[in-house]
Amino acid sequence: MQILFCDVDDLTKQYLSEHPAPNGVSYVICEKSLNDMDDDELGKYYDTTDIISTFVYSRLTGELLSKFKNLKMVSTRSTGYNNVDLDYCRAHNIKVANVVGYGEITVAEFAVGLLLNLTRNIEFSHQKLNRGIVNVDQDIGIDLHGKTVGVIGTGAIGRHFARLVHAFGCKVLAYDLYPNQALADEGTCEYTDVETIYKNADIISIHCPATKENYHMINKDTIAKMKDGVYIINTARGDLIDTVALYNALVSKKVKGAGLDVLEYEDIILKNTVESAPEQSKEYILYSLINQKLLQLNNVIVTPHIAFNSIDANYRILNTSMQHMMDFIDGKEIRSVA
Ligand code: NAI
Repeated sequence: MQILFCDVDDLTKQYLSEHPAPNGVSYVICEKSLNDMDDDELGKYYDTTDIISTFVYSRLTGELLSKFKNLKMVSTRSTGYNNVDLDYCRAHNIKVANVVGYGEITVAEFAVGLLLNLTRNIEFSHQKLNRGIVNVDQDIGIDLHGKTVGVIGTGAIGRHFARLVHAFGCKVLAYDLYPNQALADEGTCEYTDVETIYKNADIISIHCPATKENYHMINKDTIAKMKDGVYIINTARGDLIDTVALYNALVSKKVKGAGLDVLEYEDIILKNTVESAPEQSKEYILYSLINQKLLQLNNVIVTPHIAFNSIDANYRILNTSMQHMMDFIDGKEIRSVA
């Protein structure tokens, strides 16, 4: 059996060197995305590849997959499979497995990191010190202990976040469309309605999926209902927050600080290019400006969508996806979406 690993970064290379192919299995390791290789580079693997191990950068379209004549399985090293043509895989009996639940703690810890960084001015004081500026009275922060934290969305990540801030001595108010009674029974949080969170929380952290219904759930009107000087943390998805409304609230100090691992149109910043724009729409130009302006505020910390990215989480992903492939090779049952 031959496994073709694409989108291979240094950490994955390291993992594969620590986990060499067992007898009867061979690895082909490609650093590039499958879409960035032409037939000259990839053609020699079209007939020999049994399994493709992929990260999100490769788009496994039906057209591309059809070139691999003996393909039996696709194993993603990520949650979700929106980069894989599932219809094609179903029609051609190609199993598709993805990794679920590798990074709840990882993202929750990062959200706490953003929160502490903001509330204690860690990054700002460091930046000033780098420029030789010391004015300790401007670096004064707040304790988390005793503060009220609103957690919106208590699924896999939100519930860990709730536990972590509870351990700091915060009072945790939670809101979810489907409250988790076990979490409430632990004494970690108290479920309430979202209006109560807006009214009472000193800190609000968002852990909901980006659905049509949740688009701009934090907006001018909801921010107006929040306490003056509230801190907002978002490690979920950019379009849960209306960036323009948040920017204005940060400037007016209605919102004291924001920790954002995700942004609307974040690819403008991440790719640092305008090529990613579907078109030079008015909206696109607006977000280019607003994201740049956000980055310049000293009460905001923006990180480039890295909350999931710890060595431990990456190893959990690699272990799970490797297990999927080895189980498949051994003829064991695997949970496949196709
Ligand atoms: P999950 O599906 O386990 O939990 C989401 C929770 O939100 C569910 O309990 C759901 O009932 C609740 N919910 C949905 N709409 C709601 C609303 N309007 N009000 C209140 N609750 C609502 O998801 P998980 O794994 O906890 O992920 C949360 C978010 O974190 C997702 O947006 C995900 O995309 C994002 N994420 C971000 C990462 C990063 O690196 N920044 C990495 C992984 C996930």
